[in-house]
Amino acid sequence: MKTDLYPCIRILLLICLFLVSGTPHVSGNPLKIDQFISPETCGDCHGDIYHQWKQSMHNLSHHDPVYLGLSTFILTGLQDKNEIDEAESCVKCHTPVGNITGYPEKSSDDRKKIPEIATYGIQCDYCHSATGAKKPYNNGLVLSPGNGENDPGIKRGPFKNSESSFHDTAFSEFHTRSEICGTCHNVKHVAFNTDLETTYDEWKNGPYYSEDEGKIVLCQDCHMYQRPGIPATGSTKRPMNPGTAADDGPSREHIFTHYFVGANAFVPGQFGNAEKNKMAEERLKHAATLSIVSQDIHQGHFDIIILNNGAGHKLPTGLTDVRQMWLEVTVLDEKGSTLLSSGEPDKSGYLKDGTLIYNTIFGDGRGNPVPNISKAREILKDNRIPPRQSAKETYAITQKNWESLKIKARLLYRSAPQKILDTVLGDKTVKLPIIVMAETEKEIKRQKEKSDI
Ligand code: HEC
Ligand code: HEC
Ligand code: HEC
Ligand code: HEC
Ligand code: HEC
Repeated sequence: MKTDLYPCIRILLLICLFLVSGTPHVSGNPLKIDQFISPETCGDCHGDIYHQWKQSMHNLSHHDPVYLGLSTFILTGLQDKNEIDEAESCVKCHTPVGNITGYPEKSSDDRKKIPEIATYGIQCDYCHSATGAKKPYNNGLVLSPGNGENDPGIKRGPFKNSESSFHDTAFSEFHTRSEICGTCHNVKHVAFNTDLETTYDEWKNGPYYSEDEGKIVLCQDCHMYQRPGIPATGSTKRPMNPGTAADDGPSREHIFTHYFVGANAFVPGQFGNAEKNKMAEERLKHAATLSIVSQDIHQGHFDIIILNNGAGHKLPTGLTDVRQMWLEVTVLDEKGSTLLSSGEPDKSGYLKDGTLIYNTIFGDGRGNPVPNISKAREILKDNRIPPRQSAKETYAITQKNWESLKIKARLLYRSAPQKILDTVLGDKTVKLPIIVMAETEKEIKRQKEKSDI
């Protein structure tokens, strides 16, 4: 008797499992694409927020030509299964609505078959259907969307007393925490576990994180306070943005802005949104300070100090194997002759070998640098500047017969090496802007008497 029942129980168990996995937010059976509502519909009532988000890097995450170029490029010629798995994983964050509903599953899937709504990138109904995150990296968002426009479901946000005739609303603690950002802004290699991007960890381990609710400065406190003319960084005021969250909604003391500006001063402009390029510049110009320390100049050297006083994470952060932040230093004597020059790009815009760059370099596991992140088995270098910390660089002047010196230093930023862009896009027509984050200069006269120094 017992032996006869056993297969029945197994079948019952299987049916239960099937039923459980048939409900939306349990993995195994994906959500359906028509459950998601187009951002344009949200924009009908949330006009300001929609315009802020439009052509943000969240909106452009799927169309971004730099991303597309790189994701196609790194797939070429791979043999190792682990490396291929990584190179195919990009759509999980860059095309999330498509990926969570079953298409595209991987980066190389036919882009023409991607449903239109998924091409809007990281969008309203994606973030506002989130209920939590199952892991703090590689996009672990757990979603509970409605069923399209006729049954839009609950939109979760920061308000405890919000009402809309279109959708249900609910206060969500999760939306008021950095963890909603961190699950995508921490990227690990899918097979080798190498930390590829660690913005959330850098923030969590830095001075802007605090157990004290009065002291903590969240991702939102900088990035969702910014608006044109108000960069909202660690070195500026971050004034509230009073207004309404919906066109006919009640007045509120702060509406979180949705520009989601970081340091990208190039891609939004390619899509006709020059304002966001400018906002990225404003952010970069309030991220760091430079100073020249010259008390040892008569011994033949001086220091440049870079202080990260504006970014809530390392400077730079994110995709830092690609980003370039570097120091350009020149020293002229009284005749205008150059005694020292470093960090100046060549005619093609390429940085010369030996330029001091603050970045990350990945290795193949045997100490050799690998430019392709799918091969990243180790971190060989990370000299980026942690939040509220500084880096000191010493420069030597070998000439001794000068009367006066003019030292000039600039801290420069570019989203990617021009060389990579030329290779990936296959032409040399697109020039990435170089942003001056900070600059300073100092004139020094030779002191005759040692006591005068
Ligand atoms: C990357 C995720 C993300 C995307 C994309 C996003 N939001 Fe938000 N939104 C948030 C978070 C997080 C908050 C609350 C911030 C807080 O409380 O700290 C918020 C707040 C809001 C609020 C409350 C009012 C306010 O701004 O404070 C509304 C309404 C809203 N979002 C609508 C939208 C609409 C409409 C879109 C698309 C045009 C959108 N959101 C896109 C994450 C997102
Ligand atoms: C017919 C108009 C209308 C449409 C369409 C609409 N909303 Fe709203 N929504 C509102 C109003 C009104 C509020 C209330 C604003 C307030 O309380 O200040 C609101 C509030 C919200 C909130 C805040 C919830 C909270 O409790 O904090 C979020 C988030 C939100 N909407 C997201 C969305 C998203 C995402 C879409 C598109 C899928 C959307 N809305 C479409 C009218 C609309
Ligand atoms: C679903 C994953 C996801 C979530 C959730 C998310 N982001 Fe992003 N974010 C991305 C991706 C992917 C990009 C880059 C798109 C690109 O450059 O092609 C990005 C870009 C950005 C940028 C622009 C970076 C630049 O170089 O200019 C900022 C700023 C940003 N996110 C802030 C936030 C904040 C703040 C939150 C939380 C409120 C958040 N993100 C939540 C995936 C996400
Ligand atoms: C104290 C203010 C502050 C806080 C808090 C903060 N940021 Fe930033 N963020 C900045 C500044 C300033 C920049 C521009 C300089 C840079 O690129 O680091 C920036 C840049 C970025 C970029 C673009 C980096 C690049 O070079 O492509 C991303 C992405 C980003 N932040 C995400 C986040 C996330 C996610 C959090 C929370 C875990 C966060 N930020 C917390 C100030 C802040
Ligand atoms: C876990 C989420 C996640 C995954 C998976 C992911 N990315 Fe990203 N990606 C991000 C975030 C967050 C940013 C923004 C960081 C920054 O601005 O530096 C970003 C930015 C980028 C950018 C910068 C775009 C620009 O315009 O400067 C490129 C290029 C990129 N990713 C390529 C890839 C490739 C290729 C893959 C797959 C191998 C991939 N990403 C997988 C989250 C992800």
